[in-house]
Amino acid sequence: MRIDVLSAFPQMFSGILQASILRRALEGNHLHLWIHNLRHFTEDTHGRLDDYPYGGGPGMVLRAEPVFKALDCLYAQSEEKPALIYFTPQGRLFTQEMARDFSGNPWMILLCGHYKDIDARIVQRDPWQEVSIGDFVLSGGETAAVVFIDAVARLLPGVLGDEASASNDSFEDGLLDAPYFTRPEEINRLTVPEVLRSGNHERIAQWRQGEREGRTQERRPDLWEKHQQREKHKSQ
Ligand code: 6GU
Repeated sequence: MRIDVLSAFPQMFSGILQASILRRALEGNHLHLWIHNLRHFTEDTHGRLDDYPYGGGPGMVLRAEPVFKALDCLYAQSEEKPALIYFTPQGRLFTQEMARDFSGNPWMILLCGHYKDIDARIVQRDPWQEVSIGDFVLSGGETAAVVFIDAVARLLPGVLGDEASASNDSFEDGLLDAPYFTRPEEINRLTVPEVLRSGNHERIAQWRQGEREGRTQERRPDLWEKHQQREKHKSQ
């Protein structure tokens, strides 16, 4: 998979990509990641990326020119058509299902917004998919892009050591995960549930399923509702 990121603050990506799973994805050549500084694509003598909004109001707007130039430069490198993803709180809410779908794209270009918004002509000229990572406000799209890259890259074949561990995750079947324990058996007078030390795999699986359902019911009534709809559908 190839990902090109267009950003006004490329330095924000430096540390986080060099650890853990993302590093494995990069070093194993599962992911080819290019971070581009939008400032390199403007003719503006001061390298300014933003300007005042037509119609007035507070905040600045990312100009279309550097984005168009960067895109045209990337388009010229290949016959292929990349998927275009723009991070904005106005976008579709990012889910595990979307991460799965995006992980099938051989090439994606990610645009990180900053300022108040981007010039609307950027999404008029090219078919950008607008994505939000949650109902809260970030100061820019870079952190959203890192979240997106992490969620997508770990799904690429060969990135996770144990292939089964992705299908086991929370959300892959719509339920939250059960709690886990490791050694020692007792610490600060807190003990490991007896069932997990029983060696009885059937009981352990039952216990975990009960924990998953209980947690989902309590913490995420929205997911629990959907899960029950699906179960009802299955039994019909
Ligand atoms: Cl993608 N961008 C910004 N700026 N804020 C957000 C977001 C994205 N998703 C949630 N909040």
